[in-house]
Amino acid sequence: MTDLEALDRADPLAGFRDLFELPEGVIYLDGNSLGPLPKATKLRLAEVVQREWGRDLIRSWETNGWMKLPFRVGEKIGRVIGAEPDRTVAGDSTSVNLFKALAAALTLRPERRIILSERGNFPTDLYMADGLCRLLARGHTVLAVEPEAIDAALDERVAVLLLTHIDFRSGRMHDMVRLTRAAHAVGAVTVWDLSHSAGAVPLDVAGAGADFAVGCGYKFLNGGPGSPGFLYVAARHRDVAMPLTGWMGHDDPFAFAPDYVPAAGIGRALVGTPAVMGLAALEVGVDLVLSADMQAVRTKSLQMTELFIGAATAAGFRVVTPLDPTRRGSQVCVAHSRAASIMRGLIARGVIGDFRPPDVLRFGITPLTLRFEEIGVAVRAMTAEAEQPPRLAG
Ligand SMILES: Cc1ncc(COP(=O)(O)O)c(C=O)c1O
Repeated sequence: MTDLEALDRADPLAGFRDLFELPEGVIYLDGNSLGPLPKATKLRLAEVVQREWGRDLIRSWETNGWMKLPFRVGEKIGRVIGAEPDRTVAGDSTSVNLFKALAAALTLRPERRIILSERGNFPTDLYMADGLCRLLARGHTVLAVEPEAIDAALDERVAVLLLTHIDFRSGRMHDMVRLTRAAHAVGAVTVWDLSHSAGAVPLDVAGAGADFAVGCGYKFLNGGPGSPGFLYVAARHRDVAMPLTGWMGHDDPFAFAPDYVPAAGIGRALVGTPAVMGLAALEVGVDLVLSADMQAVRTKSLQMTELFIGAATAAGFRVVTPLDPTRRGSQVCVAHSRAASIMRGLIARGVIGDFRPPDVLRFGITPLTLRFEEIGVAVRAMTAEAEQPPRLAG
């Protein structure tokens, strides 16, 4: 058995754990759904509320940089995802950003009618794509295929390839470079959902040639519940029209002009008034991610997922996350016919992961907060729970 304590002693990221609030007695394996609270976020939010809002009031839009928050935080997220400068904004939900990205992408291929995606994609991605097609009422459709069939389905009819880089259910990671190239080879545009990737794995959207990317702020970026998401638009698409023409995307919002003139830069991707509190919290989480060496994060993540997979397999569980580390994000998923009951038992023991229907136990690996020892404890608890009589819901 691997010496987990020795791995913890040698861990170059061990110091990050202290920067987060982590309750005693809890092993938190759900940072891929809601990242834990950075201690600095509490101070920052208190400052925003008490000083910036409480004392400086409306002047804060200028004096405390509130107007610039979507750009400032977006720029930092841009560094996390490997974007060109000035091409990422923070704001709105991922669902809304998907709508914006998809609608903008479709305008780049006006003669084509297909949004190609995969059947297991996160539901909101498929719902938003489908809703957009209906709204356009011009014969657009979503073609959702199995992941193995994506290449075969990519042809000259496809306007947009919409994929989630790391699958929420299995943790499988797509090859962004290869698939983007394959999409471009048939003249399609790509929209990547990086919700489970940003802050979890090294990313290079510009290098991969991605056209658009979106993602959540509340997962590995630790922005807090309901945190704003982000939207990236490649520099070569800087003139693309955005579908939601709110005043914050205007070239000069405070001219209060009657006609809409889009901002020249990425500002045209904004819609309404920035969610200051959410953006302030997100900035702290993103700063933490930027202060970590992403290669070290990936190395520790792979060590941990490898250990988890090895121990779970030895205990007789069926692992659904790819065994090939190059195809794996930062989570481990295990299938079990009594998955829901086992997860209830685990949570009662303080091991927090989650259950995804129909039969998946999902464990997020957040290298900034987890100890190797906790991986051992979690797998032993899962094994013990699987041997227990079923626990009822409620
Ligand atoms: C891949 C993916 N996309 C989008 C979302 C959700 O987006 P929103 O923030 O709009 O709820 C999630 C949520 O878990 C997700 O996993």
